[in-house]
Amino acid sequence: MRFSFFSNGFPSLYMVVLFLVGTSIVSADFYNEFDITWGDGRGKIINGDLLTLTLDKSSGSGFESRNEYMYGKIDMQLKLVPGNSAGTVTAYYLSSKGDNWDEIDYEFLGNLSGDPYILHTNVFSQGKGNREQQFYLWFDPTADFHTYSILWNPKSIIFSVDGTPIREFKNAESIGVPYPKDQPMRIHSSLWNADDWATRGGLVKTDWTKAPFTASYRNFKADACVVSSGKSSCSGSASSPAWLSEQLDNSKQERLKWAQKNYMIYNYCSDSKRFPQGFPPECKMP
Ligand SMILES: *[C@@H]1O[C@H](CO)[C@@H](O)[C@H](O)[C@H]1NC(C)=O
Repeated sequence: MRFSFFSNGFPSLYMVVLFLVGTSIVSADFYNEFDITWGDGRGKIINGDLLTLTLDKSSGSGFESRNEYMYGKIDMQLKLVPGNSAGTVTAYYLSSKGDNWDEIDYEFLGNLSGDPYILHTNVFSQGKGNREQQFYLWFDPTADFHTYSILWNPKSIIFSVDGTPIREFKNAESIGVPYPKDQPMRIHSSLWNADDWATRGGLVKTDWTKAPFTASYRNFKADACVVSSGKSSCSGSASSPAWLSEQLDNSKQERLKWAQKNYMIYNYCSDSKRFPQGFPPECKMP
């Protein structure tokens, strides 16, 4: 049977256009969005829809986005180094340049087979970080792809894993905490050897007999404002897209509490030994 979309039987250009638009929404083409920036061939884009980074004894590898973003809701699916990944770190982050840079960080600290990865997060504003929170995950991040998202808008920065928020960094400028809001950032990712500190604080070293180590990326999606020659243009038809003012609703706040209660293993805001003179001001935000 011949399918026709219009009753006159002369159809399919419209269907083809719909199809193309539909697929382009699903995920962006890695060739258009990213450059492999280091690693001498150890980073690869495959068919435009998969990116892999590898690490061996001589080098790791990394990539960065072609676009610079000024706010956005950015999703990426990652599948981490499987098996014995002790000593390896996979970093995935947004960062601006210069001495007073802003940065929003995910770092995945590898472990021995069967032992849990640590998901380390941090937020830098005006060159100052020291805002670490660490988590275990509620799944094996090496068995399959999972979505790691960053929502960055003028009100807050929200880290989410498979749609569950794990961390919120609120804009606390009103109490004197600088907030990332005027330096465009690029997406960066790298896989490298950090066995001097990554696993059990550096006790467990990288087992190079298991090299090369590989992390994979797919389904990149950015609803974002892209800065180019000093001008920002935001995706979506609305002049002010919903994500730009998105906040955690009640059910998301419940999920955040669930994740923090059950999976958070370090929070700088409760490390009183580290801040004997009192916690940083943003820790007192409700
Ligand atoms: C590795 O496994 C050990 C033992 O379960 C655990 O204490 C540690 O937090 C895990 N993660 C890292 C990155 O060290």
